[in-house]
Amino acid sequence: MEKFFIEGPSRLEGEVVISGAKNAAVAIIPAVLLAEEPCVLENIPNINDVNISLQILQELGAKIKMRNKTTVEIDATHIIAPSVPFDIARNMRASYYFLGALLGRYSSGAVTMPGGCNFGGVRPIDQHIKGFEALGAEVSIDHGMICAEAKQLIGSHIYFDGVTVGATINVMLAAVRAQGLTILENVAKEPHVVDLANFLNSMGADVRGAGTDVIKIRGVEHLRGATYSIIPDQIEAGTFMVAAAATNGDVLVKNVIPKHLESITAKLVAAGATVEEFDDAVRVTRNGPLKKINLKTLPHPGFPTDLQPQMAVMLSISEGTSIITEGVWDNRYKYVDELRRMGAKIQVDGKVAVVEGVEQLTGAPVKATDLRAGAALIIAGLVACGRTEVEEIRHIERGYENVAEKFRGLGAKMKKIEVPDADVQRAIG
Ligand code: EPU
Repeated sequence: MEKFFIEGPSRLEGEVVISGAKNAAVAIIPAVLLAEEPCVLENIPNINDVNISLQILQELGAKIKMRNKTTVEIDATHIIAPSVPFDIARNMRASYYFLGALLGRYSSGAVTMPGGCNFGGVRPIDQHIKGFEALGAEVSIDHGMICAEAKQLIGSHIYFDGVTVGATINVMLAAVRAQGLTILENVAKEPHVVDLANFLNSMGADVRGAGTDVIKIRGVEHLRGATYSIIPDQIEAGTFMVAAAATNGDVLVKNVIPKHLESITAKLVAAGATVEEFDDAVRVTRNGPLKKINLKTLPHPGFPTDLQPQMAVMLSISEGTSIITEGVWDNRYKYVDELRRMGAKIQVDGKVAVVEGVEQLTGAPVKATDLRAGAALIIAGLVACGRTEVEEIRHIERGYENVAEKFRGLGAKMKKIEVPDADVQRAIG
């Protein structure tokens, strides 16, 4: 078993380069299936979710060639079967984007049903299904697989019941090859939705309005190959920004799009940090103490839910009592029990967490319950006094590239250590 060992407290100082966006990459890699020629994707993050997406493509019959660490050439022109193997797909929730892409390309596809919850609440896919059915597909669940099939996809007018990134992306993937016009209303406006639209358009699709509430897609018969560079990861950038503020640090976060970080910048400034914006970097510093703030997560351009656990750590060492409201997921506070072990004072009632600032957290053995919870525990380990051991780091490595190296580059005392399972068992026993 691998763990992160962190010796705190640390003050982060220096520069960190942000990788390509996970949530854009896991949508754009399946989209390559729609092209009738090879594609080249640049600024690919080296993380487990991307490796799984590439592995799925390979299993479907695509040829994958890494040109260098961040550039991949994908030839998906000869697909063997439009069905995503169960064993690989179940390891990643976003594998359901292959369904939209296969439906767009072959009018038929099957992937494993995505897992239930990984941070406490339910994660339904009813809006994906509603979208596919509106385009004329028949959708069924069979032996744990979700299957969609259409004679011909026909453009349609779809009003999503709630704002969902996943359904917006999945239905876009299918609609680019549907016959006629598709209008999607009440769509997600996240940077990765816009990035996917830009990639599809660079292949010859006709997608307009991404980044607004309404996306209009005029279906085309053929999509060509393209070379495309994935946007920087908004959440990885935000994680380092929060870590810098929490550790009283001075960090230049490079390779970012500052516009994507505005909601994060606003909250850090309100809490007492200073954020300077440059063309493709932000510098986060802090001189005075951290202050309480109230925070509500919302779909973009609101404050991202994927930074809520990291902010909870920062607020747990801020002066006063802060209130966090989770506005996207029913429940995203599974990590709070772990933070309590480190001395945080957080009370949760449904979607609301009341965070009472304490002087100091103390290091403890903790477990990453999901990806962003894991990132939050790293920040907690950096601000805490003494040693923190983070278990279940596979969750973190799904979405953060070289996370220990990057934090070490900023002065953190953090190491990934392989602990033999037997020793762990003995220690537990
Ligand atoms: N929802 C429905 N029906 C659906 C789909 C979603 O009711 O068919 C609800 C969800 O239950 C939730 C809300 O809509 O309450 C928003 O869900 P959304 O579909 O936007 O989430 P997602 O696409 O499953 C993506 C990110 C998540 C991020 C959310 C919200 C990817 C691969 N995942 O998930 O990222 O939290 O959007 O921004 O893009 C992460 O990176 O750690 C992560 C979990």
